[in-house]
Order: sequence, then C-alpha cells, then structure tokens
Amino acid sequence: MFSCVYIVLLALCFESAFSGDVYKAAIVDSAKDFNVNNYEALIHEASKSGADILVLPEEVLSKTDLETCGRCVHNYDEIVKTISNAAQSARMYVATHVYEKIKCQEGDDLVRSNLVFDRRGDVVSVYRKSLNNANCNATYSNTATFSTDFGVKFEVIMEEDLVMKNVKDMGLRNYVLLGAWGHQNRFLSASHFASSWAYITKANVISSNGVHSNTGKRIKYGNIIVNILEKIGNDHPQIITSPSNTVSEDWGQYIIRPLDLERSTHGYKESVCHGQFCCQFYVKTAGTKLKDVTYGLVAYDGLFNIGRGHIVGSQSCALVACAGLYKRSCFLQSENNSTNVYFEKITITGNFSKSGVQFPTFLTTTQTTINNFDLQHQFTQKHVKVNTEIYDMNDLLRFGIFSREYNSDFVSEGGKNSSENLDFTDYISSENVQEFFDYIWIRLRIVIFVVSIYILEMM
Ligand SMILES: *[C@@H]1O[C@H](CO)[C@@H](O)[C@H](O)[C@H]1NC(C)=O
Ligand SMILES: *[C@@H]1O[C@H](CO)[C@@H](O)[C@H](O)[C@H]1NC(C)=O
Ligand SMILES: *[C@@H]1O[C@H](CO)[C@@H](O)[C@H](O)[C@H]1NC(C)=O
Ligand SMILES: *[C@@H]1O[C@H](CO)[C@@H](O)[C@H](O)[C@H]1NC(C)=O
Ligand SMILES: *[C@@H]1O[C@H](CO)[C@@H](O)[C@H](O)[C@H]1NC(C)=O
Repeated sequence: MFSCVYIVLLALCFESAFSGDVYKAAIVDSAKDFNVNNYEALIHEASKSGADILVLPEEVLSKTDLETCGRCVHNYDEIVKTISNAAQSARMYVATHVYEKIKCQEGDDLVRSNLVFDRRGDVVSVYRKSLNNANCNATYSNTATFSTDFGVKFEVIMEEDLVMKNVKDMGLRNYVLLGAWGHQNRFLSASHFASSWAYITKANVISSNGVHSNTGKRIKYGNIIVNILEKIGNDHPQIITSPSNTVSEDWGQYIIRPLDLERSTHGYKESVCHGQFCCQFYVKTAGTKLKDVTYGLVAYDGLFNIGRGHIVGSQSCALVACAGLYKRSCFLQSENNSTNVYFEKITITGNFSKSGVQFPTFLTTTQTTINNFDLQHQFTQKHVKVNTEIYDMNDLLRFGIFSREYNSDFVSEGGKNSSENLDFTDYISSENVQEFFDYIWIRLRIVIFVVSIYILEMM
C-alpha cells in the first residue's frame, strides 16, 4: 500500500521535474490553407491542446497584394483585436505576422509586423520592418525579445534575419520565426535554411512552417501540431530537409565544374577555385542507372543578392543539380521526385575566412532526415578549415557549405545606405547566366553532346 503511494508520488515528482524543463509550442498543420479568418478558431483549438505558445500560420501575400497592400489595408486593427481577445480567453501566448499600411505626408509605408500576445491578450513583443523604402521616415521601436511565465526568453525574427543577422549575436536558445521574405535562392528560404540555422545556433526555432528542436516529440490535435521543446535549446540538432523541386539561384558569377558521373562511380577528387578561394570535393556515386540530371561542383567568393536591394557577403562550396551543360540549367525545375543518382559519399572542404559563419545547406526532392552527416570546423592561423561529409543520399539537389561573410555586407540592415543609391549591375550580373560551365569537358562524347545541344538550340 505504502509503496504504491510512494510510486505514484515518485511518478508525479518525475513528471513535474520533467515538465519543468520543457514547454509546448503549437503550430498549425501547414497541409491546409488558413487565413486570418481562421485565427480565432485556431487559437481556441490550440488551447485545448495545452500549448504554452501558438505560432499562427502566415498569410502569404502575392506580389500585387504586397505592392498595393491589398488585403492588409483595412483590417490590421481588427486582426490585432481578434487575436488579443482570443489569446486572452485561451490563456496562451500567440505569435503572428500581420501587414499594416501606415499613412503619412510623404506617402505610405507597408509594414511587416511580428506581434506576440501574452496570456492576457497584451502585446509583449513588436518587431516591425518597412517593406518599401520607408517613405514615412518612421523609426519603429522594436522589442523583438520577450520573456514568458514558463521561464523561456524568446527572440522574434523574420525570414531574412536568418541570413542577415550575425549569428554570433544570436545568444538565446529559443526563437520565433515569422515573416516571409521571398528568397529567390531557394536554399535560403526559411523552410530550408531554418534547419541549418538551428543546427548552427543549437536553438529551438518555432516557425509557422515547422519546428526545429531536438526532442522530436510531436502530438497532433486536429489542425494543431504540438511540439515538446527543451527550454535549454537544441544541443543535438538534426537536419530535416523539406521537399523542393527547384534549385533556382543566379549562377552567373559562380565557378562551376561539372561532376563527372562516370569517374564518380569509382570515387574521385576535384578542386574548384574562385580566385584564391578553393573548394575541394570528393564524390562517390553508385549504380549506373540512366541519369536525368547532372551535377555541378560550385565555388563562389563574393557578394550575393538576396533580393530587395540586400547584398550580402558569402563564400560557398556546393554540389548542385543541373539539367544540362549550361549554367542556366542549374536553375533546375524538376517535376520528378527522384534524381536517380545515389551518392555513397560526398566530402566538401574549404578554407573559409575566419570572420564568417559557415552553415551546411541542403535541398532534396523529398523530405529527408539527414542522419549520416558531419560538419567540422578547424581553426588555423589564417583560415577556418571547414569539412563536411554526407553518406548514402538520394534525391539531392544541393549539398554544401554556405559561409556568411558579414563584414562584406553591402546594405547593413536598418542602416541608411539605401539600396537605391547602388548600382547592382556592377556587382551582380545576370546577363551571362547562359555561359557554359567554366571548365571544358575533355571527353569526346561530351563534345559531341555539346555540339548536339547547340544544333538543337538553333533549330
Ligand atoms: C528623417 O529622420 C531624420 C532623423 O530622424 C531627419 O534628420 C530627417 O530630416 C528626416 N527626413 C524626413 C524627410 O522627414
Ligand atoms: C523525369 O523522369 C523521366 C523518366 O525517368 C524522364 O524521362 C524525364 O526527363 C524526367 N524529367 C525531368 C524534368 O527530370
Ligand atoms: C511525387 O510525389 C508526390 C507525393 O509524394 C506524388 O503525388 C507525385 O505523383 C510524385 N511525382 C512523380 C513524378 O513521381
Ligand atoms: C587549405 O589550406 C591548407 C594550408 O593552410 C592547404 O594545405 C589546403 O590545400 C587548403 N585547402 C583548400 C580546399 O583550399
Ligand atoms: C554607408 O556607406 C558609407 C560609404 O559607402 C559608409 O562609410 C557608411 O559606414 C555606411 N553606413 C552604414 C550605416 O552602413
């Protein structure tokens, strides 16, 4: 009898000790389409799951919507009020992204706002950025961090912050990520890059399109997915890629050498340099199935356009899928789920500048949990030598090292060096995307292939 009580007590103690280290973060099943009209219902649904914090799905506005602020003009106040009331009655923290149009004498600003409401429905965090060129000259007071009654301090970030903000300044263990940027470079979009970012920062990242954490415990309640997260962050981060059907990126300035799929069946080494910056590759593939895609080995050291006038410094080594012999073909858009190339092993090594931060990058055609992967940093006198390896991979569209060189950034965020004053064409040229790969193919059969492509293009 006594021992029974003892066991129950012990279990209760254990349970509460355990729950002291974790919290519950809810997101909404992204398989379905939700908009602001569903927010209230979603908040009430999430409250039944016992979540501490809910990140609402983002309304993705089209380009014209954004330019005209279509749907966001009239209902900002209404949305804020609705969420506030719902958060209060659900007694839950709620994070959301809302567009707001602010009128002033000079014109108007379209403002992207990340808002967090506490359990009383009060706004505890406001993080706002102007989408256009800040006609209103307003400086927004941002409080992007907030502390919660469950003992976790969060910072709220937007998609582009993953790339623009220096990771060395990101000291917290828990982040809320909201606010689409619309990267042209697919691998930098939040749905792909957040996983790499969480891997490097060892932080929990809660975004409307996924949660990066290490407990992996998820429970589904209707439209709500509740994730159990450790408050101390994510010490054993795992990369989970989300499916992609495209590699889209501006390859004009890159140095690309084609991967020789014949030699790679035996495993071979290749070095690709962009100026002084060199990437060393070892690639071993298996099987001799008919290949739908080819691959390029890429080196790049320089500025990188992430859109809307933001030019950032980067150094990259990567293996990317291409469909042909033109650099242009590496804007691969495949309706197929499989690339039909099986990689037994890929090793990529480079000497990166010490001021940068190096992220692993991945794109795959199907959702994949990357277990067989390793990334090592080794500091030498002049550089940081980064080595990454991956084994037994299918359906790979991109694998590599993306180093952010914050020191060479062109437009500092929040700075007054407006993009308008810069002539980007000097730095980023897309005129020569149609160039051939930078290295000549030696084998005769390939020369014949090239000639036949020429003939096809002329027809
Ligand atoms: C914008 O703000 C700055 C500093 O706050 C001020 O010096 C400048 O005159 C303002 N410009 C306009 C157009 O209001
Ligand atoms: C898709 O796969 C089929 C059959 O393997 C192939 O014929 C076709 O070219 C592939 N399409 C692309 C875009 O890779
Ligand atoms: C790709 O996968 C999706 C879902 O997994 C499936 O519906 C589709 O038919 C697949 N496409 C091809 C070309 O295999
Ligand atoms: C990195 O630098 C070391 C010497 O510092 C050199 O031996 C090695 O080849 C370099 N690696 C690459 C990929 O450039
Ligand atoms: C703007 O550019 C000038 C010159 O290019 C530079 O001296 C200045 O530090 C920059 N300001 C910011 C805020 O980046």
